[in-house]
Amino acid sequence: MQEKQDGLEELLPQEAQEEVPASAGTQFEGGMSEEQPVEETASETAFSEEETIPEAPMPEKQPLIRVEGLKKSFGDLEVLKDISVEICEGEKVVIIGPSGSGKSTFLRCLNLLEIPTEGAIYFEGAELTHASDLDSHRRKMGMVFQHFNLFPHLTVLKNITLAPVSARLHDRRKNKLKITRKQIVEEEKARAMKLLARIGLEEKATAYPATLSGGQKQRIAIVRSLAMNPKVLLFDEPTSALDPEMVGEVLALMKELADEGMTMIVVTHEMRFAREVSTRVLFMDEGRIAVDGTPEEVFGDPKDERLKSFLSKVL
Ligand SMILES: Nc1ncnc2c1ncn2[C@@H]1O[C@H](COP(=O)(O)OP(=O)(O)OP(=O)(O)O)[C@@H](O)[C@H]1O
Ligand SMILES: [Mg+2]
Repeated sequence: MQEKQDGLEELLPQEAQEEVPASAGTQFEGGMSEEQPVEETASETAFSEEETIPEAPMPEKQPLIRVEGLKKSFGDLEVLKDISVEICEGEKVVIIGPSGSGKSTFLRCLNLLEIPTEGAIYFEGAELTHASDLDSHRRKMGMVFQHFNLFPHLTVLKNITLAPVSARLHDRRKNKLKITRKQIVEEEKARAMKLLARIGLEEKATAYPATLSGGQKQRIAIVRSLAMNPKVLLFDEPTSALDPEMVGEVLALMKELADEGMTMIVVTHEMRFAREVSTRVLFMDEGRIAVDGTPEEVFGDPKDERLKSFLSKVL
């Protein structure tokens, strides 16, 4: 058990994120925040309008995720057939579609848990398939699974702090930061406790996953992802394994995150959630995105025959 915790990198869930936590509380970050001249320069420019460059075009907002011509086969089975899609910051995208249409495979390709057979995936403009530091990109994408995937041999607190502590230790080595391991652990524990308080589960900090209800496990899995400050959260049927009475608490937490502006991509059969929380719905059918529309278009006035037939079965 001890070796496992020390070999953190291997154990690291893909959602580990180094960017924010790694610099939190370091001298470097403090130094940056005290840089007053930046502000002064900005206000000076505001007074000398003529000297600004009026013609400079605004840079086009780049999508957070861009998928181009994505294909994925397992042996002879072509599961994803030429998917291209862009997802911008703040979007709440729900993916629906029949079983076997490739929803999970698509989600898993987004953070390269599955390696695409063809095509490219860009995250913040960088192509993931060629990224020199794939881990640091991956860490910006939290993933929440149907079966929670908590480490059974670790306490709730350790489950939450494992990835951020590991990412910060990595960052400390890489950037020769002057912070002790103990400090990092203490800071991450404090953050984890705040996250647990948010979901009302502080008293479960020292509990093991086996002693928790499904709804508690899933909410902890969600805050575990949040502990990495991800830029996007990917959910694969997060409520499908839950008893019906626990679905609500998980959906409520997801809705809260959506309301706070989190970018989310959610595979779900919860049509009410899709309708009420999403800003965009993708209907997948036979490895393609057959419909890409607003919830009003998809649920209120579906035109696609396959979508109509799917909805008639699930609504
Ligand atoms: N690792 C794998 N090896 C071989 N085939 C796979 C693998 N993963 C998925 N598949 C196949 O790819 C197809 C799409 O699977 P996927 O899990 O992406 O579908 P899904 O839309 O998520 O379905 P569900 O709603 O049942 O979860 C299925 O035919 C599945 O059997
Ligand atoms: Mg699936």
